[in-house]
Amino acid sequence: MEEENHALRERLKIIDKERIEYLQNVSHQLVAPLNAIKWHIENLTEGRFINVERIKKVLRSIYSQATIAVHLAKNFNFMSNLEADHALSALKEPLQKIELCRLLINLADDFQPLAWDKEVVIQVIDERFDSAPPVLAMKPLVSQVFSNIIENAVKYSSPGTKILIDGGYQKETDSVFVRVRNRGIVLREEDKQRIFDRGVRSPEARNVYPAGTGFGLYIAKRIVEIHEGNITVFTDSEGWVTFKVILTVTGLSGKARRRD
Ligand SMILES: Nc1ncnc2c1ncn2[C@@H]1O[C@H](COP(=O)(O)OP(=O)(O)O)[C@@H](O)[C@H]1O
Ligand SMILES: [Mg+2]
Repeated sequence: MEEENHALRERLKIIDKERIEYLQNVSHQLVAPLNAIKWHIENLTEGRFINVERIKKVLRSIYSQATIAVHLAKNFNFMSNLEADHALSALKEPLQKIELCRLLINLADDFQPLAWDKEVVIQVIDERFDSAPPVLAMKPLVSQVFSNIIENAVKYSSPGTKILIDGGYQKETDSVFVRVRNRGIVLREEDKQRIFDRGVRSPEARNVYPAGTGFGLYIAKRIVEIHEGNITVFTDSEGWVTFKVILTVTGLSGKARRRD
């Protein structure tokens, strides 16, 4: 009994330590974009820029930094919910019909200013994709899955490359797939499974983007699994890294609340 007690206490200590580290990590990362926004606004209000092009650039940068901050705060919220309760009902979101093509076009628009900083273009290939039926799912959660994947694609792409997003309906399984493809840092064979675990980041990812939690794909996978879907990653010899998400059209109908 004493031994068991001791083991449990040790386990609790580790969990506590992880929690504190995560909190520190998130707050640290939130401060950076918020400070950048403050700094840009200060420059604007002090009238330090007179050139219209320069002002536009600063405004775009404010938008990018705000995107990063919002994204991070949302992930933080999902993390707390996922860790607090594993049951689907605890997520409390009603199911609704989601047009994935539309959702991805909106997300691409949201991340494009961030991508411009690296001259990376995000392209949604909508032929075939826009005729796919809507999927029944929890919209804010599904949206976070794709924003985590797109954010990675933007962060880890080489400058001057393209991010390609497409999708379509798979009749046999009555599901819709979405692919997000990019070229940038290497993804090694042995890392392909691990990157969906909590806190895992490759050295290359740390190198090009030191601030990061390693929680994005973990959250994405958890959400996809809650929806009884599937998330996988592929690489090819030309350096493309492809994330593929499959969601069923009928989703969790009958298993969760619906909003029509
Ligand atoms: N598009 C991508 N290309 C190459 N590697 C990727 C890509 N997306 C994710 N990864 C790898 O997966 C890891 C985990 O991603 P994620 O959970 O989003 O955490 P983070 O982005 O904070 O590192 C990254 O650190 C990186 O090693
Ligand atoms: Mg990430």
